[in-house]
Amino acid sequence: MSSITKAKSNAGKAKAPSRIAQGLNQVLADTYALMAMSHHAHWNIEGDGFFALHAAFEEQYTNLFQAADEIAERARALDAYAVGGLKAMAKMANMDEMEAPAPQKDYVAALVEANEKTVKDLRKVKDLAGDEGDSETEDLLIARIQYHEKTLWMLKSYLK
Ligand SMILES: [Fe+2]
Repeated sequence: MSSITKAKSNAGKAKAPSRIAQGLNQVLADTYALMAMSHHAHWNIEGDGFFALHAAFEEQYTNLFQAADEIAERARALDAYAVGGLKAMAKMANMDEMEAPAPQKDYVAALVEANEKTVKDLRKVKDLAGDEGDSETEDLLIARIQYHEKTLWMLKSYLK
């Protein structure tokens, strides 16, 4: 069998993903779902704080889009496949999505909850990566936790 034929015949036959890879897929789904929520809020926000919140949500979904790519590609680097598709992502993320139109505080409160859920899942995989000596995954996840904590500080400050 040529190496090309062999590669083709192996395509799609994934070995069971490691616990780290499974965790990466969980935080990938969280990140993607949160990105969609931030985009939804960006489109529909109204009222006094419009310009600031519209811009803040744009910064957030732009960051989350880039982060989703990095997390998915880390899973691939670990020889696992990345979860994808809106239905699969939403099911896995299991987040309460916001309704629109809504008061500004409701959008922000929904994003606080979704960011907190994401941090909780990120910490679990970060700790697992630390235990298993996967410093590269740990490093990526530490950076993601820092981003979400900063976002949470800003969103919560708005709610005060
Ligand atoms: Fe826009």
